[in-house]
Amino acid sequence: MKKKNINIRFRKARNEDLGQIQRIESLSFKNPYPPYYTRALIESLSDVSLVAEIENKIVGYIFARIEYGKIGHIVTIAVDPKYRRMGIGEALMREVINKLKELNCSSVYLEVRVSNKPAINLYRKLGFLITRRIQKYYRDGEDAFLMERAL
Ligand SMILES: CC(C)(COP(=O)(O)OP(=O)(O)OC[C@H]1O[C@@H](n2cnc3c(N)ncnc32)[C@H](O)[C@@H]1OP(=O)(O)O)[C@@H](O)C(=O)NCCC(=O)NCCS
Repeated sequence: MKKKNINIRFRKARNEDLGQIQRIESLSFKNPYPPYYTRALIESLSDVSLVAEIENKIVGYIFARIEYGKIGHIVTIAVDPKYRRMGIGEALMREVINKLKELNCSSVYLEVRVSNKPAINLYRKLGFLITRRIQKYYRDGEDAFLMERAL
């Protein structure tokens, strides 16, 4: 199914979204954030944290924050496995990039597992470049790529 055939709505993440977000988080990551941490992300980052909905069901989310010096930081993004490869991840990224621009951020960065090909491809498609490899960034010992782009 292609994005043009579906009606995706984006809105700020809210506390009551926790259950649906946590479900996608658990399906998407080997070491998912625990619910208390997801709740803290929703509460602290709502300006640049969005959910994507199809027919009132949350199918993806993105959490970002603005670091010191007006630098955007994408903390996490995930799409429900049943809704992947439909353009939702790319659309979430574009929405947040636009918001960060509106908020006068000069650049945006993120960390990604070096093995995470789908995500690395997504970020490259949006103009992110790998600027550094961070050794043993993840708890299981895997390295991260730091990826950045100007806004
Ligand atoms: C990464 C993720 C968010 C992508 O979401 P998605 O909605 O499936 O992505 P899209 O359909 O918008 O794809 C956009 C681009 O991403 C890349 N991409 C996405 N999935 C891919 C895959 N399985 N293999 C290769 N490239 C992929 C492609 O470049 C694609 O562009 P194209 O369709 O023109 O080829 C999704 O795979 C996911 O939730 N993964 C688990 C959580 C995760 O790893 N998050 C990132 C943490 S840093």
